[in-house]
Amino acid sequence: MPRAEFISTGFYVPERVVTNDELRQWWDTSDQWIRERTGIKQRYWVEPGKQGGSDLALEATRMALERADMDASELDCIIYATLSPDYFFPGSGVYLQRKLGVFGIPALDIRNQCTGFLYGLAVADAWIRTRQYRRILLVGAEVHSTGLDFGPAGRDLGVLFGDGAGVAILGPTDADDRGVLSTHLFADGRYAELLWCESDASARFPRISHQDLDEGRQYARMQGREVFKHAVARMMESVLAALGAHGLGPGDVDLLIAHQANLRINEVVQRQLDLRDDRVYNNIDRYGNTTAATIPIAIDECVQSGRLRRGTLLVLTAFGSGFTWGSALVRW
Ligand code: ACO
Repeated sequence: MPRAEFISTGFYVPERVVTNDELRQWWDTSDQWIRERTGIKQRYWVEPGKQGGSDLALEATRMALERADMDASELDCIIYATLSPDYFFPGSGVYLQRKLGVFGIPALDIRNQCTGFLYGLAVADAWIRTRQYRRILLVGAEVHSTGLDFGPAGRDLGVLFGDGAGVAILGPTDADDRGVLSTHLFADGRYAELLWCESDASARFPRISHQDLDEGRQYARMQGREVFKHAVARMMESVLAALGAHGLGPGDVDLLIAHQANLRINEVVQRQLDLRDDRVYNNIDRYGNTTAATIPIAIDECVQSGRLRRGTLLVLTAFGSGFTWGSALVRW
């Protein structure tokens, strides 16, 4: 049975850099607080109303196609992970498909927030193993900046998020020494409201009211401390689950790429796994949290810099709203 391997990767962030200092025009915050608590120095934001997530994904896809010397017409499936779709419906996958001009191929949208890319990777791997599709475009793309609460209540979340897109083109390999070795997905809905966006919502009537808008229910809200604790524990567990499934331990890891939500979370995970600095990759300082896009952006940077090369044992892990979390073990 074949398994999925990464054929090519690419990423794109908008041109506009927003530094921590610039955020002070909206929020009572400081560069020092943001750096100390999160490790973030800057993020990229779209020009409001000019670019949606699928526009960022299009640029990232073009880069990946070019590097693979492929034409978009060779893709036979799109899996698109996002928590900030261009529209409530239809999903962003069809907008990307339209922009790529590859009509007819399926476009699946994944709604698993920061874990979206890993959920998508699990689906892509299963479809490739069962020979359903041969060239799958897997996307993680977000535009957060147009949905931030620029009032005082939005300070904690507003400083964290950035816009961006990362993609991978996956295809089958028969080699037994490389590709996606396994994926491990988890969720616990008991914590759904610790990090959520309440409205507009079909579970409410009306879906959104003037009062909701006045009360800021259209914005994401998070209980940061609780989320932080769960993120550390669940990412640790899922890394060990991925390694344990293959009789491996932390000492076997060549490279850990964890979701970029907060550098301090990833530092605790690194310490608890006792991994050297050259065994982990973080780039949150430059991009902030781009949710479903953090992992593919980091993968692409590691490919381009040579940190990911044939034979590297790569562990991916993520945690986010839902709660959802997971991991994947990949031999590059
Ligand atoms: N600037 C300055 N001060 C701030 C800011 C800010 N941007 N935000 C909060 N503060 C203040 C608070 O008001 C509080 O002040 P007080 O002590 O006077 O009450 C103080 O700083 C500490 O606030 P905490 O919320 O306790 O700060 P904490 O150290 O927990 O850091 C953070 C907050 C960065 C959000 C952290 O909790 C975190 O990273 N949580 C996890 C995020 C995460 O993993 N999310 C999951 C992925 S995202 C997704 O799935 C969409």
